[in-house]
Amino acid sequence: MNILITGGCGFLGSNIAHKLLNDKHNILIIDNLQRLGSEKNLDWLNAEHDFKFIHKDIVNIESYKDEIIRFNPDIILHLAGQVAMTTSLEDPHRDFMVNAYSTLQILELLRKDLPQTRFIYSSTNKVYGDLEHLDYIEHATRYSIKGYEDGIPEDIRLEMSSPYGCSKGSADQYILDYAKNFGIRSVVFRHSSIFGRRQFSTFDQGWIGWFVMKAIEAKNNNSKLEFDISGDGKQVRDVLFSDDLVNLYTKAIHSEKYGVAYNIGGGVLNSLSLLELFDLIKEKLDISYNVNNGPWRSSDQKVFIADINKVRNELNWSPKVSTNEGLDEMLSWVAKL
Ligand SMILES: NC(=O)c1ccc[n+]([C@@H]2O[C@H](COP(=O)([O-])OP(=O)(O)OC[C@H]3O[C@@H](n4cnc5c(N)ncnc54)[C@H](O)[C@@H]3O)[C@@H](O)[C@H]2O)c1
Repeated sequence: MNILITGGCGFLGSNIAHKLLNDKHNILIIDNLQRLGSEKNLDWLNAEHDFKFIHKDIVNIESYKDEIIRFNPDIILHLAGQVAMTTSLEDPHRDFMVNAYSTLQILELLRKDLPQTRFIYSSTNKVYGDLEHLDYIEHATRYSIKGYEDGIPEDIRLEMSSPYGCSKGSADQYILDYAKNFGIRSVVFRHSSIFGRRQFSTFDQGWIGWFVMKAIEAKNNNSKLEFDISGDGKQVRDVLFSDDLVNLYTKAIHSEKYGVAYNIGGGVLNSLSLLELFDLIKEKLDISYNVNNGPWRSSDQKVFIADINKVRNELNWSPKVSTNEGLDEMLSWVAKL
């Protein structure tokens, strides 16, 4: 297949590109290489594979759309994005242009020039907002949500919050609407937190990698490990290892389901709070730690665990890598950086 991957030099994009190139697909990547680590990911892909690369901003896609039409993609995997909530608060306009406007430009390209091309979008669980309207139960190391023991399903109300939530959410909704109104063959994946190899974490993007990095630094320097966090550390996320995400996209490029949104994450079995993550890291590295609590981040969800029953039933996909195994892989990836 001819597969266009926007953001193909990012964490998820490069892992997916690597697998699809191994599977002998023709790949075109668009990436402006603005993300920390994306040049390294490009070098990594170039060392092993042949593929086409457009080093341009996705916001200006209209100006180079002829190159895309010539490539004639069977499917577009749209992963390029402004990915940090904090950055979206600093520059909401740029966040909107990268996440919402660019997606609309691609949808228009599909509608006018590539109506047979299929489309998969990497959305986010932030489209459900901070979920403040739900009832929380406090336990020793984590919160849980009353009545949502299987996690949050796709039919809970959308409530976009923060510029990042709004820009990703409007892209998400435009895609579903273009499927309905124009027959665009598209699917939306609403990702929970994903972690793994080729992820170059920063303090505001890739929290598992960031805390693992802090722990390894402290261990190597024989210094005291201080985890600086927002909130009380009992906030819970379901986490997904990148190999599982790659398997999902590898399946999804053959799927004939359109106009559908799926929650994608590790689910209930792979959920953990910050405090539980710190204890796991402590055990694995044999290192003690202190937690410094700061104020809660705006729009932070106390708990997000994806209910992954819909994707399990309809796309026959579920995570295979446990959090424990994934964390071992993450520790060895970060230790080599
Ligand atoms: N990783 C996660 O946990 C997670 C969670 C929820 C949603 N997502 C979504 O999945 C997608 C991929 O995430 P990721 O973790 O791989 O992020 P990433 O930052 O590692 O990758 C994004 C890539 O897009 C590129 N890019 C950014 N702005 C661009 C622009 N204007 N033009 C061209 N290229 C641009 C970056 O250089 C980078 O290579 C994003 O859209 C993100 O919102 C990821």
